[in-house]
Amino acid sequence: MKFFVDTADLADIRDLAATGLLDGVTTNPSLVAKAGRNFIDLIAEICEVVPGPVSAEVASTDFETMLKEGRYLARIAPNVTVKVPLTPAGLKTCRVLADEGTMVNVTLCFSAAQAILAAKAGAAFVSPFVGRLDDIGQNGLGLIQEIVEIYNNYPAFTTEVLVASIRNPTHVVESARMGAHVATMPPSVIRQLANHPLTDKGLSQFVADWAKTGQDILSQPLPKRGE
Ligand code: G3P
Repeated sequence: MKFFVDTADLADIRDLAATGLLDGVTTNPSLVAKAGRNFIDLIAEICEVVPGPVSAEVASTDFETMLKEGRYLARIAPNVTVKVPLTPAGLKTCRVLADEGTMVNVTLCFSAAQAILAAKAGAAFVSPFVGRLDDIGQNGLGLIQEIVEIYNNYPAFTTEVLVASIRNPTHVVESARMGAHVATMPPSVIRQLANHPLTDKGLSQFVADWAKTGQDILSQPLPKRGE
């Protein structure tokens, strides 16, 4: 499973990229507004930090302008993935951009029917929003299961399922069990994945027991290796 971070905060992106665990970045207009930076400059900087796909979303909703914006955003860097909404105009834009060789992430997907359309439009990624479905009492992870099952029925569909609106590690683990290709998570959730109280407890014990040995690994000479 690939891990993307869902943020426009460069400090977080740099920090997580340094772990070697980050495969890409997703942004959206709300995250860009929060970052308070010039959009083009921001995406260019993110693309330099992370070599994997970096989603940059169009701002318009009509086909002609979305296409112009998508083509413009794609010129920022080769790893830009143009993000378009799952609307008829967004799907039409996706088809044209995909045929031109641009990676497209079709976002705001809330049904399996919409996901089928994204695949048929040649999207590189479809983004079903699990958290927002859970928020209205629907089954977000159930949608992931449906989409993965449908895509698996059609090997010609090359669209990757990019699980979005993730709120907790269970969303990540369950999506991985279902075979979703990508999880995009807020930085807090990526960091949460490493946490377990027994890890903390066990490490405290090892540190305390090691101190009792009175030893220091780096001050001990290594054995000669027969040279
Ligand atoms: O970037 C799309 C998606 O991940 C947004 O998540 O938490 O705003 O529902 P959220």
